[in-house]
Amino acid sequence: MYRRTEADTDRNYRRLQVLEREDRPMELEDRLRAMNGPLLTWYEDHARILPWREDPQPYRVWISEIMLQQTRVEAVKPYFERFLQSLPDVEALAEVEEDRLMKLWEGLGYYNRARNLKKAAQMIVAEYGGQMPSEYEELLKLPGIGSYTAGAIASIAYGRPVPAVDGNVLRVISRVTASYEDILKQSTKRWMEEHLKNTMPKDRASHFNQGLIEIGAIVCVPNGQPKCGECPLASVCLARKQDLIGELPVKTPPKKRRIEERTVCILEEGTKVAIRKRDDDGLLASLYELPNVEGCLKEEELCEAFGLDPELVAVIEPLPKAKHVFSHVEWHMIGYRVRLRDMQSKAMPEAFISAEKSELKDRYALPNAFGRYTKLII
Ligand code: ADE
Repeated sequence: MYRRTEADTDRNYRRLQVLEREDRPMELEDRLRAMNGPLLTWYEDHARILPWREDPQPYRVWISEIMLQQTRVEAVKPYFERFLQSLPDVEALAEVEEDRLMKLWEGLGYYNRARNLKKAAQMIVAEYGGQMPSEYEELLKLPGIGSYTAGAIASIAYGRPVPAVDGNVLRVISRVTASYEDILKQSTKRWMEEHLKNTMPKDRASHFNQGLIEIGAIVCVPNGQPKCGECPLASVCLARKQDLIGELPVKTPPKKRRIEERTVCILEEGTKVAIRKRDDDGLLASLYELPNVEGCLKEEELCEAFGLDPELVAVIEPLPKAKHVFSHVEWHMIGYRVRLRDMQSKAMPEAFISAEKSELKDRYALPNAFGRYTKLII
């Protein structure tokens, strides 16, 4: 990407920025159109170098966009590289075994994203000969692909002139247009998609969409003070002009999360540790977990709760508390390490899988919710 000098850049912005007359405020779509020039110039100068941007093939764009939902760029980078190495194409993803897929996704959270990737890959193989469709409407039919992801793939990988409105874009556009519409409402997103489709530069859709996302990520930031002094859209931003940056965007506060107390157990016998597979549906479906039950148990309640023979328990050690926040529920956990007498796996209740500790690293996917405790397994 050509990088201009700073002086060049400043001159360009001044030339490209639209001066709004005080006595004649711009209509909505004129205001959106006025973003195009400064936005594209800014993106070409400031785009971060990211692994999925170097070679925007459809499969790579798709995987990165799914990973980037609900996950920060820095956290995604190592997962992206590892995923692409293990599953380099649609066919490999369509055939991957569930446990291996979960292991590759371990720690990223929202595991249904990965399951939908596999389902979509199977559809792409069956219905499109393994080639990702390029049309927005076709992409929308695939599991796990909504209007944002369909727009991102169609525009970034195929140059199609469709918008890609995610949380970053909702924030930027709400501010530029001084909109008080609630950005968590589907209707707000649809409203933005419709207007941006009309006003975006048809031949530069990839950079336009990525530019808006990038401004939302590094300038018009989600938490904390936006860097309006560095923003290429400052001259057209109505929220800035009307001093509304602190009020916008409008976002209804989410419902309070339910609090669930749980007792987690590191149950060890020699080099083995107990795990079990969770149910096929509900929270953390089909992943592995450490033995745990609802409630805050006392030491003397552990044997009954986990089906242990008290004669076979050698040591019980209380562990630190931990907390994990899901979207609708919070787990407030206490923990114990229970060391069983080493009877070559015979002391371990049959309800559990008796896994080698090393297998927790390379075989079984245990979600982050148990991270505070899995770290203590050595
Ligand atoms: N967040 C969502 N999509 C992104 C992308 N393509 N690049 C950087 N951050 C993003």
